[in-house]
Amino acid sequence: MTTSKQWHQRAMAVMPGGVNSPVRSFDAVGGEPIIMASGYGACVRDIEGNDYIDYVGQYGPAILGHAHPDVVEAVSAAARAGFGFGATTSAEIELAERVCAIVPSVEKVRLCNSGTEATMTALRLARGVTGRDAVIKFEGCYHGHADPFLVKAGSGALTTGTPNSAGVPEAVGNLTYCLPYNDGEAVSALFARHGEQIAAVIVEPVAGNMNLVLPQPDFLPTLRCLCDEYGALLICDEVMTGFRVGLAGACARFGIRADLITLGKIIGGGLPIGAVGGNAQWMDHLSPAGSVYQAGTLSGNPLAVAAGLATLDHISRSEFYATLEQKTQKLVHGMTQTAAAHGINLKTSAIGGMFGFLFTDCSAITSYDQVKQCDVATFGRFFSAMLDQGVMFAPSAFEAAFMSSVHDDAQIDATLRACEMVFSALPD
Ligand SMILES: Cc1ncc(COP(=O)(O)O)c(C=O)c1O
Repeated sequence: MTTSKQWHQRAMAVMPGGVNSPVRSFDAVGGEPIIMASGYGACVRDIEGNDYIDYVGQYGPAILGHAHPDVVEAVSAAARAGFGFGATTSAEIELAERVCAIVPSVEKVRLCNSGTEATMTALRLARGVTGRDAVIKFEGCYHGHADPFLVKAGSGALTTGTPNSAGVPEAVGNLTYCLPYNDGEAVSALFARHGEQIAAVIVEPVAGNMNLVLPQPDFLPTLRCLCDEYGALLICDEVMTGFRVGLAGACARFGIRADLITLGKIIGGGLPIGAVGGNAQWMDHLSPAGSVYQAGTLSGNPLAVAAGLATLDHISRSEFYATLEQKTQKLVHGMTQTAAAHGINLKTSAIGGMFGFLFTDCSAITSYDQVKQCDVATFGRFFSAMLDQGVMFAPSAFEAAFMSSVHDDAQIDATLRACEMVFSALPD
């Protein structure tokens, strides 16, 4: 049998850092990355046949767990009918209709292939309709890997210590104002100075790329008011939170009207997809209806669309999110209590089917600076020990974790028993 270690050595020879996305590297936690073979339900299996209860969830898409039979069937049927035609299919139209019906503020949708494409498109659209160039983003928020967003970015950029990427032209970076998350006053002050230059404010309505930071009650409403006052567009990046914190996403949950919403992950049921949606007034500026260019050979591909539609069928069922949230809360409460019992400072947060935890003595986490102060060394030990116990979290203290609808009580209890063992040994 070829071990994960041997596969990893082969990967290092032919893939930069041995991975196709930096968040998959184990550099931040030590040890060799596990090479995966398969996933079923709430578990994943590595190439050596070891099983793990999985809280990575494909970094968000796997809300129904892995290889859900209905999604597999829908994708198989779509594959048998052809992989794409360079023309519109009825399924794409149905998916767009479903998104418009579910997500408030969305009247029209453009499908693309990734969350990065979605945010890139949303910003170009905002620039096109306002005739302005600058954008405000927030520290620790990640909006994909397009140039304008790689300024104090979260997720893998934060984990690898390169939140400001090399290779981004200074002229591009200069058009991005980066402010502290949850700091409405800073946004207000910036608008007062540069309001006439600002095309858009882009925000993760729940920050899920610097662990998990919830918006303070006045933060999103302040952004909405300021955008209205200065004629900028509010882009809510719901690539992670869309269909994750509730069926209609975080904006709906917090009662915020976005001008543009970006989606990804769950909307493709685990296959590559992204989407931008919004008011028809803005969306009709996209080509060919309007003059803001955007395109994609594989956009709206039948397999991803079929997976998305099958996933939407499940998550639209009543009680889906109530049950998902209960599971998340059960795990998070259990972790908090277990840590406290062992005198470990663990700060947890959760919403819908996503959660986060940081080893820190900070009492309330609201900003990137606070997140960065967490104890990453302890996280690394926790991560490795949990893996030994058959529980998989993302290999970074700065990633959120994800619950699926198919995690059952036995798996959550097993996770908590593993936490008990690991926390009891951590202080040593
Ligand atoms: C909030 C947010 N926006 C955008 C992206 C980029 O999406 P993708 O990785 O599909 O390009 C991500 C990815 O994690 C994300 O979490």
